[in-house]
Amino acid sequence: MSSGIGNEFMRGTRIGVQPEPDQQKGLSPPPLQRPYDPSRPTVALPKAANLVIPPADLRTIMAQRRTLRDYARTPLTLDELSFLLWCCQGVQSADDNRTLRPVPSAGARHAFETYVLVNNIVGAAPGLYRFVALEHLLVEENMAVTIADDVVKACRNQRQIKAAAVALIWTADAYRMTHRYGERGYRYLHLDAGHACQNLYLAAEALGCGVCAIAAFDDDALNGVLGLDGESQFALYAATVGRRK
Ligand SMILES: Cc1cc2nc3c(=O)[nH]c(=O)nc-3n(C[C@H](O)[C@H](O)[C@H](O)COP(=O)(O)O)c2cc1C
Repeated sequence: MSSGIGNEFMRGTRIGVQPEPDQQKGLSPPPLQRPYDPSRPTVALPKAANLVIPPADLRTIMAQRRTLRDYARTPLTLDELSFLLWCCQGVQSADDNRTLRPVPSAGARHAFETYVLVNNIVGAAPGLYRFVALEHLLVEENMAVTIADDVVKACRNQRQIKAAAVALIWTADAYRMTHRYGERGYRYLHLDAGHACQNLYLAAEALGCGVCAIAAFDDDALNGVLGLDGESQFALYAATVGRRK
């Protein structure tokens, strides 16, 4: 993690000793989602409400959940990807101030962007996309043929990133959280990330897939691959998904 963010988080924060957050000063909040360039190609995702997902028993899913790093080579469908993205970051409702999603978030700030490294999805070419949650679509970010290798390298050569049908990388848009909570918001970002990834684990299980959470990465390298400054926007957590063999 870059030094500025790391220091702020590591200092620890006790309610009552922080400077007043910007929200309390009456400053306007940032947008609910990082804008994207509408001239870039997009991939429409099937609407979550229309997806037919096999019924699954929650207790069985909980009991079965296990980290999986070795995947079948069969692709996931766009329906399945849409469902997975909806479960961990999809938008159920939005107003000017907040979104509500299948995952909880401190103050409903939902301060993440989700990068989607597509390796093997029917209907989406391999490459790096960003999930535009408010519109439930993917926008192309980096379609270089080396992009998957670049992500693998930034993640300490964890080969499951390339073997998986898809890898998600959650990045923090820090001010969406700190506007309301000040420094303590950094703690909440990390807690929120756990919720997102846990939903992914459980949703993938329901599809006969497995997940591997990934936090062992070189912060500067991964931020560099994603084109993030590492201060206002930074990679926080990632996960791979693929079908069980
Ligand atoms: C915060 C966090 C970070 C993790 N990072 C990695 C990682 O970088 N690479 C990896 O192979 N597994 C990673 N894992 C997966 C754990 O190794 C795994 O959850 C653990 O061995 C327990 O196995 P289980 O998930 O099957 O119960 C991570 C898990 C968590 C919760």
